[in-house]
Amino acid sequence: MKRFDNASLKHLNSFAVEAHARRLFVLESENDFQALQAELKFNPATDLILGGGSNILLTKNIDGAVILNRMTGKRIIEESADTVLLEVSAGENWHDLVLWSLEQGLSGIENLSLIPGCAGAAPMQNIGAYGVELADVLDSVRVLDMTDGNSIDVNHSQCQFGYRHSRFKTVAARYDLITHIRLRLHRNFIPRLTYAGIDKELDSMGIDKPTAKQVSDAVIRIRRRKLPDPSVTGNAGSFFKNPVVSGSRARLLKNEFAKLPVYPMNNDTAKLSAAWLIEQCGWKGQAMGNAAVSDQHALVLINTGKATGREILDLADAIGESIKRRFDIQLQTEPQIL
Ligand code: FAD
Ligand code: EPU
Repeated sequence: MKRFDNASLKHLNSFAVEAHARRLFVLESENDFQALQAELKFNPATDLILGGGSNILLTKNIDGAVILNRMTGKRIIEESADTVLLEVSAGENWHDLVLWSLEQGLSGIENLSLIPGCAGAAPMQNIGAYGVELADVLDSVRVLDMTDGNSIDVNHSQCQFGYRHSRFKTVAARYDLITHIRLRLHRNFIPRLTYAGIDKELDSMGIDKPTAKQVSDAVIRIRRRKLPDPSVTGNAGSFFKNPVVSGSRARLLKNEFAKLPVYPMNNDTAKLSAAWLIEQCGWKGQAMGNAAVSDQHALVLINTGKATGREILDLADAIGESIKRRFDIQLQTEPQIL
C-alpha cells in the first residue's frame, strides 16, 4: 500500500480543481485491505473513497484520508453458451473494460463506451448512456465493510438501482468499499439502438447491421462531438440530473414549452432535459469567474483553467436559481460535492 501525506488531488479529479488530502492511501493488492484497516479507522464524515474522480467536485481540502482503490483484474466465474459472468476488480478503468469485453466477443456494455472512471464506481450512480444502464448487466457487487473488514455480496435487487441512483449512495452504504462488480455479458449481440442519434451515426458511418464494436464506435464518435474531453478541459460530465416529474406536470410544461424534450418513464413520470432548460435560461457558453457552462453541452460545467471548486459550485447555484425562477423546477446535482 502506498501512503502520502498532504497529497494534492488536482490530478485525481476530472474538474482538475486543487485540493489536498491530509493522507492518501493507494490500494494495489488484496493484502492492502488489511494494511489499510490497521492504519485507518474509516470515518465517512472525513474520509473519501475515490475512483477516477470523474463524478466529484472538491470545494475544500479533505481533512481525513482519501483511499484510492487501484486493484485490477478480471476473471470469468461462470459461462454458458450464451452468457458469461465476469468479475471485475474495482480499480479497472471502465472504458478499457468495455473495449476488452468487445475484444472477447462479449456484448452488453458497448453503449456505455467512453464513460470515464473506474469499474468500482459504476454501480454508485448506476451509470447510464445511450439507452443502457449498468443495472441491465449487473449481477452483483462485492463490498468490504470498513467497520469490520468483512466482505459481502450485494445482489441486483439489493442494489436498489434507479436513474442515477443506487443503495451505494445511501447512508446504509456509507462504510462500504466496493471491491468487485460482477457483470452478466452476452455472447450473442442484441443491438440497442433506440437512443436518438445512434442510428443516424451508424448511417453516417455507412453501417446497416452493426456489430457490438461498431455500436461502441458510434457512441464514441457522438460523445467526442458532444462532450468536452476532461483531459483537456476540466469537467464532470452532466453536472445536474435530468429532472423527473409527474406525467401531469410534464404535460403542462410541454403545453407551455412545445420544444422541451420530455422522455416518458414508468409509473406516469417523465424525465425532462436539464440541458434544454439551462440553455433556455441563456447559460450555454456563459462564464462566471473561472467556471463556465460548456458551449458544447449546456449540462456540462467546465473549469476554464484556474477554477476553484467553490467557483464551480457558485455557478451551479446560480443556474439552479434561474431554472427554479423560470420553470419552477429544482435541479439536483449529479456529482458528489465535497
Ligand atoms: P469517482 O468520481 O471517483 O467517485 C464517484 C463516487 O463514487 C464518489 O462518491 C466516490 O466516493 C464513490 N466511489 C468511487 N469508487 C468507489 C468504491 N470503490 N467504493 C465505494 N465508493 C466508491 N456518468 C454516467 O452515468 N453516464 C455518462 O454518460 C457519463 N459521462 C461522463 C462524461 C464525462 C466527460 C465525465 C467527466 C463524466 C461522465 N459521467 C457519466 C460521470 C462519471 O464518469 C461516472 O459517474 C463514473 O462512474 C465515475 O467513476 P469514477 O471512478 O471517476 O468515480
Ligand atoms: N440539449 C440542449 N442543449 C444542449 C445539449 C442538449 O437543449 O446543449 C437537449 C437536446 O434536445 C438533446 C437533449 O438535450 O436532444 C438530450 O441531450 P443528450 O442526448 O446529450 O443527453 P442528456 O440528457 O443531456 C444524458 C446523460 C448523459 C449521457 C447522455 C446519453 C444525465 C444527467 N445525463 O445527457 O450522462 O451520456 O444522456 O445517454 O442523465 C453524465 O451523467 O455525466 C452524462 C454525461
